[in-house]
Amino acid sequence: MNSRNRVDILHGVNLDMLGRRPVSHYGSLTFDQLEQQIGAFAHELELEPRFFQTNHEGELVGHLHRVEGLADGIIINPGAWTHYSWAIRDALEIAALPAVEVHLSDVDAREEFRRVSVIRDLCVATVKGEGVDGYRTALIRLKEELDL
Ligand code: DQA
Repeated sequence: MNSRNRVDILHGVNLDMLGRRPVSHYGSLTFDQLEQQIGAFAHELELEPRFFQTNHEGELVGHLHRVEGLADGIIINPGAWTHYSWAIRDALEIAALPAVEVHLSDVDAREEFRRVSVIRDLCVATVKGEGVDGYRTALIRLKEELDL
């Protein structure tokens, strides 16, 4: 097993409420089903996923502070924090790992405030509007970045 295949899958605020959010934007999977599907994609691609979700900004910041040595790359969907959390942006910079930003919905085709991402330029790629399959796209991109 390659030693650079550990991927942290990070979900921010309100993602745990999938299944109760607008199906037109987020699809009908529950959060548990989403994580199971991402886990299946990761294993198909011979990546080792580790999952973390929180509704507390400081917990995501703390997680990013501690990620060194525990993951080789990051897939991150910060939810609404994407659009304004400079604290999460700074923590992602401190983590200093290759990261891919993912959104289930097409954030650029929705309200104006969703077009801003404060993490985008720290990420090697952004995947949006592909629903759950976007996580597969993101994992493939991250795998390339990790030279696997
Ligand atoms: C989201 C898009 C965000 O604008 C929103 O606040 C979310 C989910 C997405 O996956 O499409 O909570 O990140």
